[in-house]
Amino acid sequence: MTHDPKDALQAALRQLEAAGSPSAARDASALMDIVQGDAPPWTELSDDQVAHLQRLIARRARREPISHISGKRAFWMHEFEVTPDVLDPRPDTETLLEVALKHRFDTVLDLGTGSGCILLSLLHERPAALGIGTDLSEAALAVAKRNADRVGVADRVSWAVSDWFSSVTGTYDLIVSNPPYIALDEMAGLAPELDYEPRMALTDEQDGLSAYRAITQDAMRHLNPQGRLLVEIGPTQAAAVSDLFARAGLVDLHVHQDLDGRDRVVSGANLPRTDQ
Ligand SMILES: C[S@@+](CC[C@H](N)C(=O)[O-])C[C@H]1O[C@@H](n2cnc3c(N)ncnc32)[C@H](O)[C@@H]1O
Repeated sequence: MTHDPKDALQAALRQLEAAGSPSAARDASALMDIVQGDAPPWTELSDDQVAHLQRLIARRARREPISHISGKRAFWMHEFEVTPDVLDPRPDTETLLEVALKHRFDTVLDLGTGSGCILLSLLHERPAALGIGTDLSEAALAVAKRNADRVGVADRVSWAVSDWFSSVTGTYDLIVSNPPYIALDEMAGLAPELDYEPRMALTDEQDGLSAYRAITQDAMRHLNPQGRLLVEIGPTQAAAVSDLFARAGLVDLHVHQDLDGRDRVVSGANLPRTDQ
């Protein structure tokens, strides 16, 4: 027996709305896309496909993110594999990419690389550059390695399990990081979708600033002269993180906003001081 895809889509929408999904219409069509695969749009659905759709609706009704259900997320120019071992790449993080690409770099280090979305996008944009991605999570690095193959930059990237700089050697033109910056006391108020993401990707279990303390403490030792450190921040953290940059001796400090005007990136450089 076959089923009308428009009826199936409407039924999916009603079920997702009833389950309280905040993006029911978008979710219903994303789940239909997964079930239909490469078939032309509006092809009749088989019994198996309708059963598959029901299973996916049940997962989304439990607020599992669409990226986990589909196993992928579009970020910058590519589609990245996403699993429960990595943070689902966020559109907000593209602000960091935009800022990074305003600078010259031949070498780049990404601390807490997760899916590798930042590092691999940067390497794709700079075809002569070399990169290193680190993470405390070996499982995350396995996903990042597969994404390097997808993006086609695997020959220019290496990986290291590292607690921030602990296993990092050498110096770099650019160091980037989107560390866990949600404070422990903010965790309870987050959307249920975040329960599906690795906790260590979200929070430092402290005040949300401990990763910035660790990173700024060692950054100068790993930056080339004129090199730059760029970190993503939560919208309320610009003053505190800028202060950490300044204390570490980074200069030419800037705070960059995302498209909604929220503070999103702090940038600082290893430049000779002019007052000495
Ligand atoms: C907010 S996620 C960012 C992932 C990815 N860079 C992105 O922007 O989507 C933070 C990442 O930092 C990693 N991480 C957490 N603690 C760490 C530590 N002490 N040293 C290195 N990486 C760490 C997490 O495993 C996670 O992959």
